[in-house]
Amino acid sequence: MSCLLLFFYVFVMIKSPHAATKIKGREAESLLKWKESFDNQSKALLSSWIGNNPCSSWEGITCDDDSKSINKVNLTNIGLKGTLQSLNFSSLPKIRTLVLRNNFLYGIVPHHIGEMSSLKTLDLSINNLFGSIPLSIGNLINLDTINLSENNISGPLPFTIGNLTKLNILYLYSNDLTGQIPPFIDNLINLHTLYLSYNNLSEPIPFTIGNMTKLIRLSLFSNSFTKNIPTEINRLTDLKALDLYDNNFVGHLPHNICVGGKLEKFSAALNQFTGLVPESLKNCSSLKRLRLEQNQLTGNITNSFGVYPNLDYMELSDNNLYGQISPNWGKCKNLTSLKISNNNLTGSIPPELGRATNLHELNLSSNHLTGKIPKELENLSLLIKLSLSNNHLSGEVPEQIESLHELTALELAANNFSGFIPEKLGMLSRLLKLNLSQNKFEGNIPVEFGQLNVIENLDLSGNSMNGTIPAMLGQLNHLETLNLSHNNLSGTIPSSFVDMLSLTTVDVSYNQLEGPTPNITAFGRAPIEALTNNKGLCGNISGLEPCSISGGKFHNHKTNKIWVLVLSLTLGPLLLALIVYGISYFFCRTSSTEEYKPAQEFQIENLFEIWSFDGKMVYENIIEATEDFDNKHLIGVGGHASVYKAELPSGQVVAVKKLHLLQNEEMSNMKAFTNEIHALTEIRHRNIVKLYGFCLHRLHSFLVYEFLEKGSVDIILKDNEQAAEFDWNKRVNIIKDIANALCYLHHDCSPPIVHRDISSKNVILDLEYVAHVSDFGTSKFLNPNSSNMTSFAGTFGYAAPDKG
Ligand SMILES: *[C@@H]1O[C@H](CO)[C@@H](O)[C@H](O)[C@H]1NC(C)=O
Ligand SMILES: *[C@@H]1O[C@H](CO)[C@@H](O)[C@H](O)[C@H]1NC(C)=O
Ligand SMILES: *[C@@H]1O[C@H](CO)[C@@H](O)[C@H](O)[C@H]1NC(C)=O
Ligand SMILES: *[C@@H]1O[C@H](CO)[C@@H](O)[C@H](O)[C@H]1NC(C)=O
Ligand SMILES: *[C@@H]1O[C@H](CO)[C@@H](O)[C@H](O)[C@H]1NC(C)=O
Ligand SMILES: *[C@@H]1O[C@H](CO)[C@@H](O)[C@H](O)[C@H]1NC(C)=O
Ligand SMILES: *[C@@H]1O[C@H](CO)[C@@H](O)[C@H](O)[C@H]1NC(C)=O
Ligand SMILES: *[C@@H]1O[C@H](CO)[C@@H](O)[C@H](O)[C@H]1NC(C)=O
Ligand SMILES: *[C@@H]1O[C@H](CO)[C@@H](O)[C@H](O)[C@H]1NC(C)=O
Ligand SMILES: *[C@@H]1O[C@H](CO)[C@@H](O)[C@H](O)[C@H]1NC(C)=O
Ligand SMILES: *[C@@H]1O[C@H](CO)[C@@H](O)[C@H](O)[C@H]1NC(C)=O
Ligand SMILES: *[C@@H]1O[C@H](CO)[C@@H](O)[C@H](O)[C@H]1NC(C)=O
Repeated sequence: MSCLLLFFYVFVMIKSPHAATKIKGREAESLLKWKESFDNQSKALLSSWIGNNPCSSWEGITCDDDSKSINKVNLTNIGLKGTLQSLNFSSLPKIRTLVLRNNFLYGIVPHHIGEMSSLKTLDLSINNLFGSIPLSIGNLINLDTINLSENNISGPLPFTIGNLTKLNILYLYSNDLTGQIPPFIDNLINLHTLYLSYNNLSEPIPFTIGNMTKLIRLSLFSNSFTKNIPTEINRLTDLKALDLYDNNFVGHLPHNICVGGKLEKFSAALNQFTGLVPESLKNCSSLKRLRLEQNQLTGNITNSFGVYPNLDYMELSDNNLYGQISPNWGKCKNLTSLKISNNNLTGSIPPELGRATNLHELNLSSNHLTGKIPKELENLSLLIKLSLSNNHLSGEVPEQIESLHELTALELAANNFSGFIPEKLGMLSRLLKLNLSQNKFEGNIPVEFGQLNVIENLDLSGNSMNGTIPAMLGQLNHLETLNLSHNNLSGTIPSSFVDMLSLTTVDVSYNQLEGPTPNITAFGRAPIEALTNNKGLCGNISGLEPCSISGGKFHNHKTNKIWVLVLSLTLGPLLLALIVYGISYFFCRTSSTEEYKPAQEFQIENLFEIWSFDGKMVYENIIEATEDFDNKHLIGVGGHASVYKAELPSGQVVAVKKLHLLQNEEMSNMKAFTNEIHALTEIRHRNIVKLYGFCLHRLHSFLVYEFLEKGSVDIILKDNEQAAEFDWNKRVNIIKDIANALCYLHHDCSPPIVHRDISSKNVILDLEYVAHVSDFGTSKFLNPNSSNMTSFAGTFGYAAPDKG
């Protein structure tokens, strides 16, 4: 025994160090040669790569304990710029893991990558690699994970991929792949995850997909696939997620898609599917998300759906479905979104729907629904958006609607509602949009509407409202669009309207109004059609009679005179900042103008929703719009970034903040940083600059914000002419705006956000001098239970649904 041990010991002593040194030497040599190929900056990132022992403390290098040879290279997120060309893969014979994710690598994936015969994990995701996938990948028969997503890789899937029978995970999304899914894909018998979304793949899906019975996640969205889904897909009984969104599929949906009882996410939206909703969905209690919108599905859906305890998101809009709304939806306790607009539904809204108490959005607009709004909907206390427009609903709007105190949008237009508008609607203090147009409402406009203090869009047109316009409406200083046309309103337009500083569009035509029009731009710029057919409106507007001197006087209500005392004309940016910060707490207690703001412009939001998933589409638009960040589009330069103005092909103008090279610390904590940015894109507040999205993994890193015309307060204060125009009222309002923003960030966000860098530089004004706080570069998410900063890992309130 001891003899044997001794022999072994001697063998190890003599044999092993010698061989190990040799391998180590070769490995070191080839890594150093690769390092040599980088630019100076990237070389500096690998400053620990010196000497001839990569196992000592070389960044990103891990070695086997026994053989002392490299088994892992992991250089995630370090900012490397260079190619893979000069890395001699064959001198890394024991490497099992190669992770070069999220760098700035470019060039092709070299043929000799096929020399790492022990490789199990290959992750080159989030780089700028191009060219096609080399055939030699078929030699890496030990691979279980390939991740080449988020590059610029083109060409077809190589046939050699069929050799990779141990593969579990294949991530190729967000590239430029073309051609078909090859029929021999079913050689990958162990594949459980296949992500091919965001490419240019086409042709029908091969029927052999049905042989890949271990598949759990199959993601094909945003490609150009055509024809029918092969019925063999019904054999994939382990599927949890199937995403066919945004292709050119036709024919029927797979009927047995949930026959295995495991399906959680199914999206077939935005295709040309016809036929019925799959039968197997009825008993699919595992379902969490279902998106079938924008197809041509038909059939009577009254009994097509069951009870889904886990269902969160459900959308069937824009199809040809008919039948009734099932009371079963009320039993889906986790449901947050139910959207079945623009179909042919009939019958009434079942009172049972009031039991789905997690609902945030209910959209049943553009159907043929009849009957009343059931008062039971009062229990939907989390509802943010309720759209019932364009149906045949009737009766009075139940007073109980006041319980929906989270509502930001209430759309009841184009129905047969009658009676008085409930005064209690004025209690819905978060409403941004209220549309009661094209109904049969009568009586006065409730004075309580003056309490809708964040409302931006109010439409009461096409009813039978009478009496005078309440002066209280003048308090709605966030109102942007007001339509009171086609009613029977009389008297004068209240002089308090001059305080509606946000108002841009107004229509009061077809009433019995008389007297002067308020001296604000909304009326000044209004087309005459928006003012005509009244009893006698007058004013300095072409098409109207000028007002007689006696009748034409109305004075400007000076608001908040106290604040004028607080400020002085010489107030510098710093003082402004200090005061703002100091009073924010006060305002938090006295105002309640914080809110979540839903997407205002669907197309833009949608564009960026897609983008935040990918980045590529909009990235290219931004590069184009700024002519590759040409100085002529530059509108500001700061310590960490330069800001450009970019007009996208859609006509939308955005501000693009291009970050100077990210510092090492930031790079090392990329995940926290991206989470943070993600969170900020979810914030919707009138006084916070909207962050549409970001791009952090390309040649350029940038953030894309809403563009605001007036620019930052410090610039305005520096310019004598602009500073003079920037009068007291405006300054006071700006302080209130900033206070609102801070108050929202501190109190209404969970976890709270502390900005920590409020100054006149990052308070930006729009044309109406409404202030928007910007730049959360230094803000952190504060854990309420500790004094430490923590990174963010959740969502703010109600976040827009992700794809699939
Ligand atoms: C890179 O560094 C080397 C040595 O420090 C220097 O000679 C060379 O000029 C640098 N190249 C660039 C492009 O800065
Ligand atoms: C690679 O490194 C990153 C960051 O250092 C780490 O998060 C990741 O888990 C590592 N991956 C592997 C496969 O070791
Ligand atoms: C790569 O390394 C192998 C083994 O160390 C060696 O035989 C080969 O010559 C090297 N290739 C190049 C191009 O340096
Ligand atoms: C592959 O990369 C993507 C990002 O490009 C990442 O989200 C995903 O987790 C990675 N998957 C694996 C299995 O490494
Ligand atoms: C991706 O590749 C295409 C050509 O295949 C090229 O036109 C485009 O500029 C590349 N995009 C990036 C971001 O490298
Ligand atoms: C598949 O792997 C075998 C070795 O197992 C190899 O001989 C063959 O060339 C590979 N085929 C392809 C197409 O890569
Ligand atoms: C794949 O499935 C088809 C039927 O769908 C069957 O004929 C074929 O034999 C299967 N191939 C393998 C390798 O299992
Ligand atoms: C419903 O949602 C909650 C919280 O989001 C989650 O914990 C729960 O598992 C979900 N499913 C059911 C059946 O309640
Ligand atoms: C609703 O049904 C009618 C016929 O009953 C049809 O003409 C119409 O196109 C359908 N609308 C939708 C949205 O399916
Ligand atoms: C739809 O099906 C339900 C239940 O079977 C039935 O009561 C209803 O009349 C059907 N609706 C239409 C429009 O066919
Ligand atoms: C307004 O209409 C209501 C109900 O239609 C009616 O009772 C009231 O007298 C009208 N008021 C005026 C001032 O015309
Ligand atoms: C309207 O307001 C502008 C400035 O806001 C003022 O210059 C003008 O004199 C006012 N017109 C009338 C008729 O009061």
